[in-house]
Amino acid sequence: MYYSEELIEEIRMKNDIVDLVSGYVKLKRQGSNYMGLCPFHNEKSPSFSVSRQKQMYYCFGCGAGGNVFTFAMEYENLTFPEAIEFLAERSGVELPRMEYSEEARKKANLRTVLLEINREAARYFYVQLKAEQGKTGYTYLKERRLSDETIRAFGLGYSNKYSDDLYRYLKSRGYSEDLIRQAGLINTDEKHGVYDKFWNRVMFPIMDVNSKVIGFGGRVMGDGKPKYLNSPETPIFDKSRNLYGLNRARSSRKPYFLLCEGYMDVISMHQAGFTNAVASLGTALTTGHASLIKRYVKEVYLTYDSDGAGTKAALRAIPILRDAGISAKVIRMEPYKDPDEFIKNLGAEEFEKRIQGAKNGFMFSLEVLERDYHMDSPEEKTAFFQEAARRLTEFQDELERDNYIEAVARKYAIKEESLRKMVTKAAVYAGMAKPVERPKTASGKPQKKEDGNLTSQKALLTWMIDDQRLFGVISRYIRPEDFTQSQYRTVAELLYDQYQSGELNPAKIMSHFTEEEEHREAAALFNTRLEKLTTPGEKAQAVRDLLYRVKSNSIDVRMKNLAPADMAGLQRLMDEKRRLGELEKLHISLE
Ligand code: UTP
Ligand code: MN
Repeated sequence: MYYSEELIEEIRMKNDIVDLVSGYVKLKRQGSNYMGLCPFHNEKSPSFSVSRQKQMYYCFGCGAGGNVFTFAMEYENLTFPEAIEFLAERSGVELPRMEYSEEARKKANLRTVLLEINREAARYFYVQLKAEQGKTGYTYLKERRLSDETIRAFGLGYSNKYSDDLYRYLKSRGYSEDLIRQAGLINTDEKHGVYDKFWNRVMFPIMDVNSKVIGFGGRVMGDGKPKYLNSPETPIFDKSRNLYGLNRARSSRKPYFLLCEGYMDVISMHQAGFTNAVASLGTALTTGHASLIKRYVKEVYLTYDSDGAGTKAALRAIPILRDAGISAKVIRMEPYKDPDEFIKNLGAEEFEKRIQGAKNGFMFSLEVLERDYHMDSPEEKTAFFQEAARRLTEFQDELERDNYIEAVARKYAIKEESLRKMVTKAAVYAGMAKPVERPKTASGKPQKKEDGNLTSQKALLTWMIDDQRLFGVISRYIRPEDFTQSQYRTVAELLYDQYQSGELNPAKIMSHFTEEEEHREAAALFNTRLEKLTTPGEKAQAVRDLLYRVKSNSIDVRMKNLAPADMAGLQRLMDEKRRLGELEKLHISLE
């Protein structure tokens, strides 16, 4: 579906953000903004702000933010084209009838029908479970000590032993074979024809945040393989963007989530009163999961299985969560395998104690790291602290980093000052050389250097948007091409254009991003609170540093991509490199 930029802009202008949001959220005027309780996460005091002037909203609690389109996408669960249609209708803008629009409508319709089919299937499975033919399944769940109330709350069901039971039922409800297949509920092969994907399994409906059934997990009765069969990815089911149990956990009103691995773990925890449990369903935690979580809480307690795989999964999840701004703690389940078994054996009270005794994720990762070193060899011990120091450099916030330095020094009984020096040194090197990988540490960490560069690019953009006086100075040295990350580059290009034409209009820039994820990222750019640098001198220093870093990274990147024979290009880059020196002495006045 394609709508012209002008049309999108017209629709945006005809839908005032304050007006739109007021229809959903109670807003109160506060200075030049409007504040209210954020509709995207649980909170008791308002941190959701809407700016009429910027035509944007932003939540300082969960980071949700954007323009009218983003709001419609997030609140009404729409795609970008759907949001355009929604807001066009709301403001009486006539949309052109294109051939495309038929196709898009079909796509939207398809989603609706697939949701319907899944809902029907869930109902059917539930009825089967309660009927005579579902006795095996029901008994199984009872043996796993699930109450009727829990079974109902999670909509658990049973798929019969017959091979085309559901298929025939759905056909009788008027759905075509093609649609049932697209919902992921049947398979076909030459020998058997059409048959149900799930049979003789207890069924776990997977729901999105709005409690719409988007897929299923089916557990085998007994020990067969595979233990769990899951719906394939479909137009409505994206595993990396959904969490099992989120539809219930989102309203648990606890400031953290319990993140675990399995269906049964989530259900057991909820039944025991821990209604803030969610699971990433057998797939490793993705950044998509992390940003989903971030909408609701800022802290996650990992309750992964206590085996090697669970530990590995936890270690992988911690940095992903941290990069999304979520702090992680680790709960150990020993001597039991997982939360389900733990609660069954020791009960909710003991589980609560484990929550209280959860380990900080960073400290936990050091403990695991320690296993790779012989700590009684001075050489290896030093190497261990070097790696620890390197990891400490990854905390961007100084206060946070300091707290960790202190904690690590205390735990390993070494001098805080020595560790601090190591961290400083590691930080200097981090920009120049990759740390030598120790053969025994297996984790494939992301390259931190790149992250630092992205942070700088992001920060520089934020400054330019926040303080328009800076544009003149910055644009003399930095071109949009210097932003190596593509979304930042796009924002920069638009921003430079707007400056040139003399009207800064963040909300218009936002409309360029059609994916929800990009929307959030861009919104954050326009709303990030700059570090509390108070004096103009400090600010100037920070801008100078950022300019330097962004430029020098850009030169590095271009240098790397230079064709070997491009002497002129090389000369240009060398010149630019020389001019870098100027930047260090650059006078920036922000008085
Ligand atoms: P587990 O094997 O730990 O599941 O796998 P569980 O929930 O403890 O299973 P029970 O207690 O024996 O019933 C964790 C999760 O990994 C996914 C499922 O989402 C499961 O809940 N998984 C596991 C699969 O998708 N397929 C499998 O074959 C196994
Ligand atoms: Mn289990």
